[in-house]
Amino acid sequence: MLSDQWFQRAQNFLVEGVNSPSRGAAVYSPGPVVIEHGRGSRVWDVDGNEYVDYMMSFGALIQGHAHPKLVEVVSDSMATGSHFAASTPAEAEAAERFCRLVRSAEVVRFTNTGSEATMLALRLARAHTGRTKFLKFEGHYHGWYDPYLLNAHSHPVEQLGPRENPARIPDSQGIPAATFEDVVIAPWNDFDALELVINQHGHELAAVISEPIMANMGCIPPHEGYLQRIRELTHHCGALFILDEVVTGFRYAAGGCQEYYGIQPDLSTFGKALGAGFPVGAVAGPRSILNRMHWGDDMVLHYGTFNGHRLTMNVIAANLDLLSQPAVYERLHAIGDSAITGLRKVFRKRKQNAVVQGFGPMFQIYFTEREAIHDYRDYCAYIDAARYSRFVHNLMQHGIYMTPSNGLHWIISTAHTQQDVAALIAAADQACAELT
Ligand SMILES: Cc1ncc(COP(=O)(O)O)c(C=O)c1O
Repeated sequence: MLSDQWFQRAQNFLVEGVNSPSRGAAVYSPGPVVIEHGRGSRVWDVDGNEYVDYMMSFGALIQGHAHPKLVEVVSDSMATGSHFAASTPAEAEAAERFCRLVRSAEVVRFTNTGSEATMLALRLARAHTGRTKFLKFEGHYHGWYDPYLLNAHSHPVEQLGPRENPARIPDSQGIPAATFEDVVIAPWNDFDALELVINQHGHELAAVISEPIMANMGCIPPHEGYLQRIRELTHHCGALFILDEVVTGFRYAAGGCQEYYGIQPDLSTFGKALGAGFPVGAVAGPRSILNRMHWGDDMVLHYGTFNGHRLTMNVIAANLDLLSQPAVYERLHAIGDSAITGLRKVFRKRKQNAVVQGFGPMFQIYFTEREAIHDYRDYCAYIDAARYSRFVHNLMQHGIYMTPSNGLHWIISTAHTQQDVAALIAAADQACAELT
């Protein structure tokens, strides 16, 4: 197979043959299919196999592949100069649209990735509060910046320690232990644990950072009122509430989960769907905090050759215009919900103990005896990730492309149709029949 050959070839000069471990043999067995091109909701591998893509570049491709309007914008921008590292109308156009859509965004600063955005948000929070420590929840992933790489991967449940005082588990070598001394860890979706940790540490926290929907242990929505409780408690203790919308931004609503759940974070971070396939991130919030980046002796420094990249800014402006059209989100939700309903029916019919969790444009499947997965500890204790991986490998044999990692999530883009959902349901039925 050509996929095998390309993957072998890539291993000659790329570590594990990939540029991010979640794309290689650590997840795909025996190796990934190698993708050649994409259009709309579909991708084709180098062997000519066609798939409906439900991974959508880990959620970046909100408009699917090669959207005609974005192709036009990219080629026009390229033909007139992709980037000047100078002031451009394009960045003003993108920022105006962004701030119109995101309720907490009085102003915005663009970065190049979600990781850079969460990095900058923490620096701003520390400068604004004059405090150093911050609270991060178990199982939340905020990019690969040093202080966030604690308790972000799943681990055997025996290693997790008590809920009131979770074991601190670094996710990477090469990070000084001292970095983690400033990180306070708590379980998520647990009101009592949150109050306890804020009572203990609230006075020394610069920030509490949270994903609104936990999206890196599959798809775990917040309990009712939980995000509001974070909001109240952070107000009370003087820590900033950083809402990490890198996954959820522009996905559940044009204004992200802050619009969907009606909450007002101090800072929020974006990436993925904002750039519709181009590398970008953003930090948004009030002037009173973001103005700390004003040039001067006591500034928060944020540099970047590629910040406000012209071509990307033009893509963002066009993307946000497309997302502002009527009924876009109704459609994303309707298609996602019919995929979820269809999958649930298949699992019932095939007598699989599987939960389809999430709603609308993002969801995940857990093979589990439980009725729901509420947090990181449930994820570590009760799901059969190996069975999920076998299920997804089976699906790929039937024309569905998805990552076999249970930690990620299924994505609906504006390019998906009810026919794509029908293809998924038929493939899922076969994949269940073949599941060992
Ligand atoms: C919630 C969350 N925050 C931040 C990031 C980092 O974004 P990026 O991969 O663009 O650096 C991710 C990436 O998956 C994420 O899921």
